[in-house]
Amino acid sequence: MRKKMLLGNWKMNHTIKEAKEFCDAVYKAGLVKKAKEKKVLLGIAPSFLSLQIAKKASHGLIIASQDCHYEEKGAFTSNISYKMLEELKINYSIIGHSERRQYEKEDSLTCNKKLKTLTSHNFNAIYCVGETLEEFEQGQTKEIISNQVITGLRGLSDEEIKKVIIAYEPVWSIGTGKNASVEIAQDICLYIRKVVSKEFSKGVANKMLILYGGSVKPENINGYLNSKDVDGALVGGASLKVDSFEALLKNI
Ligand code: PGA
Repeated sequence: MRKKMLLGNWKMNHTIKEAKEFCDAVYKAGLVKKAKEKKVLLGIAPSFLSLQIAKKASHGLIIASQDCHYEEKGAFTSNISYKMLEELKINYSIIGHSERRQYEKEDSLTCNKKLKTLTSHNFNAIYCVGETLEEFEQGQTKEIISNQVITGLRGLSDEEIKKVIIAYEPVWSIGTGKNASVEIAQDICLYIRKVVSKEFSKGVANKMLILYGGSVKPENINGYLNSKDVDGALVGGASLKVDSFEALLKNI
């Protein structure tokens, strides 16, 4: 049985103080304990600045980075490396979010380098893939997704691929309130599993966690997580307030 995962992607929201208050409230509400009982991996991805304080106040809540460079150190202004995350005992990072692809021109080849670096240093990486509205309307979803998955995961060893979680996030559904239907999410998550099975093995594909993301709310999370191939949710807006984060968990 695969575990479930609920990961809040805070993007450029919440100050250090707010991050600390959120973590304290999560602890007070016993959410990590509740998540354990439900076999749900529960976490948040705050800004780089808040990682340290969030980790200190986490009490078992997963604290993930929103990105990580592929090099260990060097002249890469504004970036951070896995070494810096290791120092904070953080071992999860999101890679290839569509906002990074869109605004920072990150492509799947760069994501591949990042995934290689992270997974070879024992990090869990949440690799985001998803098609734009135009691609969706032109019926290119599967082609786009398969390219992103194959390029992003290329060359990962059997050990490394086990550290990868894939998040299917259609770009048209992110922050728009237009969530993909449960049928679409299930269909594409199953498709991703098939691609991984072909590129690696059935065993790897069956064990891999595949998440859906895009306008997930407490009211709709259950439909996704009841689908056979959707193992969890990557949630932006609805993960920012403790009440809503708690409701997301409760409704799984
Ligand atoms: P959203 O964001 O839940 O606000 O749509 C999801 C994401 O970008 O991960």
